[in-house]
Amino acid sequence: MIALPDEVVQGLGIATYRALEKFYSRRNEVWKLEVKTCEGVDRLLVAKRFSNSSHCSREAGLLSGLAQRGASVPEVLYHWSGWMVTEYIEGPLLLDVFFCEPLLLMFGDNLERLYRALGQIDAGIVLGDMNLRNFILNRERNRIYRVDLESAGAGDVPEDLGKLCAFCLTYDPPFTEDKMEITRALLHHLVGRLQAPVEQVKEEVLLELLRIESRRRMTVPYEVRVAVAAW
Ligand SMILES: Nc1ncnc2c1ncn2[C@@H]1O[C@H](COP(=O)(O)OP(=O)(O)O)[C@@H](O)[C@H]1O
Ligand SMILES: [Mg+2]
Repeated sequence: MIALPDEVVQGLGIATYRALEKFYSRRNEVWKLEVKTCEGVDRLLVAKRFSNSSHCSREAGLLSGLAQRGASVPEVLYHWSGWMVTEYIEGPLLLDVFFCEPLLLMFGDNLERLYRALGQIDAGIVLGDMNLRNFILNRERNRIYRVDLESAGAGDVPEDLGKLCAFCLTYDPPFTEDKMEITRALLHHLVGRLQAPVEQVKEEVLLELLRIESRRRMTVPYEVRVAVAAW
């Protein structure tokens, strides 16, 4: 169960709360909360307890900076000593819809806003963790939201795009014809939208596939490498 520190409860003016769901996370504890405020308002919030508490204020600062600059990220409501509370973003993870409904225009729009805003905050930093679990599709606002800025740091956009495409290819079941075709379309759409050099992005996809092979003990078929190189 989750027990919010008193500091957080008071800081947010919470009268009562209960956890509705614990989200999948390898590093942290992330909960969906139903909250009643002292003014009697019901709200859905997300509380993230960082395993490394020094990462919390950095993520909260980045999310706030991105929101101010028009990027689609959840609003940070409070953070304190390794705990961050944000608004809850309604909708499925991009991972759960992307291969049926690739939403290339919306995804490109989301990434363009994010990289523009990140560049204004600190030139030379990128998103870092390009897992599709870090993106939520909110149909009501017609936007894809980015959560999780914990791995944002020095890097370049082609590197991020290469990782994104390599992750797309390797979700279970990996390397299907559909995944190959959708990921190829994603790569070309994003390369155009973000003006990234296509050859460098393809190299980054191949590099990340090599890392995935050793990290997850997965074999990348030779034909997949040949196909990616020819995209
Ligand atoms: N604001 C939010 N609204 C809805 N779901 C969220 C929100 N923030 C996080 N989540 C869910 O929690 C999961 C883990 O959160 P994330 O910030 O990615 O933490 P981690 O660093 O542990 O991966 C996400 O994949 C998503 O399912
Ligand atoms: Mg995450």
